[in-house]
Amino acid sequence: MGATQKHQRKGKQMVFLVLAFVALLAAGGCSSGDRAPAAKAPPAAAAAASRTTATQARAQAASAQYVGDRACIACHKDAAEKYAKTLMGKTLSGPARPGVQRVDCESCHGPASAHVAAGGGKGKGILVTFRSGIELAAVQNQPCLKCHESDERRYWKSSAHDSRDVSCVSCHKLMENVSDRFALAKPTQNDTCAQCHLVRKAQSFRNAHMAAREGATQCSNCHAPHGSPTEKLLKGNSVNENCYNCHPEKRGPFIFEHAPVRESCTNCHEPHGTLNDNLLKMRRPRLCQSCHVEGRHPSSAGLANTVYTFGASCLNCHSRVHGSNHPSGNFFLR
Ligand code: HEC
Ligand code: HEC
Ligand code: HEC
Ligand code: HEC
Ligand code: HEC
Ligand code: HEC
Ligand code: HEC
Ligand code: HEC
Ligand code: HEC
Ligand code: HEC
Repeated sequence: MGATQKHQRKGKQMVFLVLAFVALLAAGGCSSGDRAPAAKAPPAAAAAASRTTATQARAQAASAQYVGDRACIACHKDAAEKYAKTLMGKTLSGPARPGVQRVDCESCHGPASAHVAAGGGKGKGILVTFRSGIELAAVQNQPCLKCHESDERRYWKSSAHDSRDVSCVSCHKLMENVSDRFALAKPTQNDTCAQCHLVRKAQSFRNAHMAAREGATQCSNCHAPHGSPTEKLLKGNSVNENCYNCHPEKRGPFIFEHAPVRESCTNCHEPHGTLNDNLLKMRRPRLCQSCHVEGRHPSSAGLANTVYTFGASCLNCHSRVHGSNHPSGNFFLR
């Protein structure tokens, strides 16, 4: 037997000893990482046991100290390099800017001395991993809100997204740049929202749609994803205020107002996309006759009636359906 072989065997024995020691330590209850949700564990005693270790782990992580990002970078070189290119990552390099806080690893992941002491590892002593299903959304959002609760996030608490446990990181990817701006989870905003709102995405493929697919409009033209004082997360004070931003000529004032227009554009339009022209919810004359008595004007198909049903239908004559400023425009004819 050659000397090198002997040496190798000795090495293997050492490795085995070290591994055994580590295993002993783990069995001794200092596995800090059991963060699996309790629901996955078998019932009764086992569940209770896993709860205690989970509680212990959390207590351990919670009592951890800040160690600074130098420690992290040593083991997480790739992650740190990608992060350094993001807007938040850039606060770590370069000179300090007044009013701009440094956002280091532990600002988001929490104090991580327990993780470092454990030699790193998945599920080991990290307070907020941001993995879905590991922590509650409220826990994941907490570090972000510490710095970002003002401005647009004023209405975050109890917004439709907050109350349905959507977390910041459902829409934001923070360890690397995926989108051009705003650290979004997908390259475009519409894709980001479409992760969950598939119906809206489908609507944008209908023949009448606002140019979302073409990149000219996006969800946040009308919606405030972080919450708003208006229902349906709308940006303006009402549906109409939203629409007037880009269609100001519809605001009026008109000498003759058409009541349903003032009330809400959605009386006749479906802004996300429809199969009818002009984003109309239904075809004319049905649209108009959903409110106006059919008997007033004929609208059954037939030679004499074509002007009431063909082409623009009622709008063949009532062309100023959004309101009229003509002195004799009371029937929106001019
Ligand atoms: C001794 C090396 C080492 C050090 C130091 C270290 N880590 Fe880790 N860390 C690891 C390893 C290994 C993993 C597991 C990676 C995997 O499974 O893909 C990990 C995982 C993580 C995870 C994912 C945890 C999970 O459960 O998903 C986060 C977040 C993390 N580290 C953050 C940090 C931060 C912040 C610091 C600095 C305070 C740090 N790490 C320091 C080695 C280290
Ligand atoms: C602004 C908050 C934030 C900061 C700052 C931050 N992280 Fe993360 N980290 C996250 C989020 C969110 C995830 C979940 C995955 C994702 O969004 O990319 C994550 C995931 C991770 C993971 C596991 C997944 C992976 O990419 O391997 C590691 C490791 C990690 N971070 C290390 C670090 C290190 C090291 C630093 C400092 C250089 C750091 N993080 C700074 C928010 C942050
Ligand atoms: C439903 C998706 C969604 C969720 C959830 C979300 N965001 Fe955003 N966030 C966006 C979009 C979209 C933008 C870009 C806004 C724009 O285009 O005007 C943005 C922009 C931002 C910005 C940069 C612009 C600004 O307002 O300063 C910050 C900071 C931000 N979000 C923080 C957060 C925080 C913190 C949370 C969690 C409390 C969160 N976001 C949750 C979608 C989301
Ligand atoms: C320690 C404070 C701090 C924490 C914690 C923090 N941020 Fe930030 N964030 C900042 C600062 C500062 C900037 C702006 C940097 C600048 O303007 O150069 C920023 C920028 C952003 C932006 C805009 C990025 C862009 O490219 O336009 C988003 C989105 C954002 N943060 C989301 C989050 C989310 C989500 C979390 C939680 C996972 C979080 N932040 C945690 C301080 C923080
Ligand atoms: C992680 C999944 C998820 C993502 C991503 C997401 N949403 Fe939502 N959104 C929800 C859930 C869940 C609800 C609540 C639905 C309900 O209660 O019926 C909701 C509700 C809404 C509502 C209706 C609010 C109300 O009061 O009824 C609007 C508007 C909305 N989201 C817009 C957006 C926009 C814009 C984006 C992209 C910036 C986005 N969402 C991204 C999950 C998501
Ligand atoms: C042109 C303005 C506009 C744009 C752009 C827009 N929405 Fe809306 N959205 C509205 C209005 C107005 C309502 C309220 C409809 C109502 O009250 O009948 C609404 C309602 C919603 C609702 C709630 C539906 C319900 O009945 O509860 C969701 C979810 C939603 N939008 C998601 C999106 C998503 C995702 C995008 C981007 C793909 C988007 N919206 C783009 C105007 C818009
Ligand atoms: C961010 C700007 C913006 C907002 C806000 C906006 N729109 Fe539009 N809208 C557009 C653009 C751009 C077009 C396409 C114009 C074109 O093709 O000439 C359009 C087209 C339309 C059309 C005609 C569609 C067709 O098929 O010809 C209708 C109807 C419409 N919008 C209704 C609304 C309603 C209702 C609202 C409010 C819920 C609204 N818009 C809010 C930008 C906007
Ligand atoms: C009573 C039903 C009704 C209501 C309510 C309504 N519209 Fe319309 N809208 C129509 C009809 C019908 C057309 C098609 C016009 C045509 O064929 O000439 C149309 C067309 C449009 C167009 C595209 C053509 C143009 O005139 O520029 C825009 C933009 C538009 N509407 C915006 C709005 C906005 C913004 C509101 C809310 C302030 C609104 N509409 C409310 C019925 C309505
Ligand atoms: C959501 C219900 C609704 C829809 C849809 C609707 N209208 Fe109206 N319309 C009204 C109301 C309410 C009035 C006001 C009636 C009043 O003042 O007595 C009105 C008034 C009118 C008037 C003036 C009548 C008068 O007596 O002064 C005309 C003309 C008219 N609408 C045509 C149309 C046409 C054409 C359409 C289809 C593009 C349409 N309407 C769709 C509710 C609606
Ligand atoms: C050929 C032209 C023409 C067409 C097409 C037409 N209208 Fe009229 N409509 C008129 C005229 C003209 C008046 C005014 C009647 C009057 O002076 O008494 C009127 C009046 C009305 C009024 C108010 C009537 C009242 O007495 O209060 C309503 C509502 C109305 N039209 C709805 C419709 C609807 C809905 C359609 C589509 C099915 C339609 N119109 C198609 C010409 C037309």
